[in-house]
Amino acid sequence: MSSQASPPGPSPRTLLRLIPGSFSNPAEFLLGLTREYGDLTCLRLGIKNVYLIGSAEYAEDILEKRQEEFSNWISWFIKKAGILEGEGLIATESQGHASRRALVGPSFVRENISKYTGTIISYGLNQRELWAPGQPSDLEKDMGRLTLSIVLKTLFNLDLDTEGKKIGEVINRLMFHYNAVFPPVLLAQPILRHLPQNNVRGLIKELNEVSKIIYGIIDERKKNSEERGDLLSSMMAARSEDEKNPRMTDTQIRDECVSMLLAGHDPMAKALTWTWYLLSQNPEAERSIHDEIDTVLGGRIPGLSDMDKLPYTENVFREAMRLYPPVWMMIRQSLTDLKIGGYETPKGSLFLVSPYILQRDPRYFEDPLSFKPDRWEGWNEKSGLTYFPFGGGRRVCTGEPLSWMQGVLLIALIAQKWSLRLAPGHVVEPKPQITLGTKHGVRMVPQKRDS
Ligand code: HEM
Repeated sequence: MSSQASPPGPSPRTLLRLIPGSFSNPAEFLLGLTREYGDLTCLRLGIKNVYLIGSAEYAEDILEKRQEEFSNWISWFIKKAGILEGEGLIATESQGHASRRALVGPSFVRENISKYTGTIISYGLNQRELWAPGQPSDLEKDMGRLTLSIVLKTLFNLDLDTEGKKIGEVINRLMFHYNAVFPPVLLAQPILRHLPQNNVRGLIKELNEVSKIIYGIIDERKKNSEERGDLLSSMMAARSEDEKNPRMTDTQIRDECVSMLLAGHDPMAKALTWTWYLLSQNPEAERSIHDEIDTVLGGRIPGLSDMDKLPYTENVFREAMRLYPPVWMMIRQSLTDLKIGGYETPKGSLFLVSPYILQRDPRYFEDPLSFKPDRWEGWNEKSGLTYFPFGGGRRVCTGEPLSWMQGVLLIALIAQKWSLRLAPGHVVEPKPQITLGTKHGVRMVPQKRDS
């Protein structure tokens, strides 16, 4: 294919005119651009070349087939802004990434995640008891709290209500700043330095706070080295084949813990929140999930061995992450000049790859805006990256197997007892930040099921 000048896209003037409106929902704004300009859209945003990907083939090229030609821009940003040292997974760029994953990855492989089941179930049961029939509650907050409790317990063996209260509060503030830092960056490269300063400062302040707490826990563990069965113990005991650096340093462990705290609870909370919202809007799907749960579990508490027996529940979770992928945007930066779709793109260009956009594309999903968990029955893989809520390639989410388990078990456990109805008059509006949350929460009224 011969090279062409530049992919189509709005002129800088048009873009400047559109940007203020786009802040309300950047995911929909970018989706609209791909509908207008096609598989590759050039966003002329000043010094940086920014390309928006609108085809599953190009997404696969960037995240998988040609991944060596790209770095993860968010990792670069986290390191550059001084947020992390670059030693934990999310902030490690190309070099060193493979060895980091080799050290941390084994904790998350399918065979090792079963040890977290007890924690997931016990916190899920606890959440089940917190609601009162007819008393509205914000599900986004509830799910955030539930998944943060689980991550604190699995990582540090701390309980959010007691000894983990302080770190929990710091993490919530950290998440607020982390989420708020990124969106302007997506659309306003040239003004990056000015826009997110307060949040970057806030993020660094909270990070120092969280670091102090984590280093304190590490020191305490060194003095008393008994095995606690949590991820911190696994990291402190992990040995790599690298003879010069066989064990993780305290900074590496700190960075890894922060990676897990940032990456490990918020996307999970968002995935569950959207699941409850979608079920409340689709009574037929809610009936089907209740039927499956009642038939398979008959009132008993679900366990790991039920995972394969709850395919509809899993498909509900899968379909919710199709319509509302919690990590709705991945950003890569090219390491060399390269050709995409017949266009030459210069080294250092940014590529925006969004599961939100591709998972709503009618070429890949029939009737894409409808919530249809049944579509996944006997699903045939299509070519390219059409469904990728956990990303792709070597940076694919390390927590993916754990997330499927956690999602299915928590949905089954909660739907067994409760039907969650959207509070009258409450409007749910997406708020795409680093994860896909909502503008005003998801206010729901729990109704007790009879079974
Ligand atoms: C529904 C839940 C989750 C979703 C949708 C999700 C999604 C993702 C996505 C899309 C990425 C890739 C980002 C990129 O390529 O730029 C990612 C990376 C990551 N996730 Fe998850 N995640 C979830 C849960 C978890 C959990 C439970 C953990 C850990 C306990 C976790 C840990 C990580 C880490 C450490 C990375 C960075 C991996 C690397 O760069 O090598 N995630 N996640």
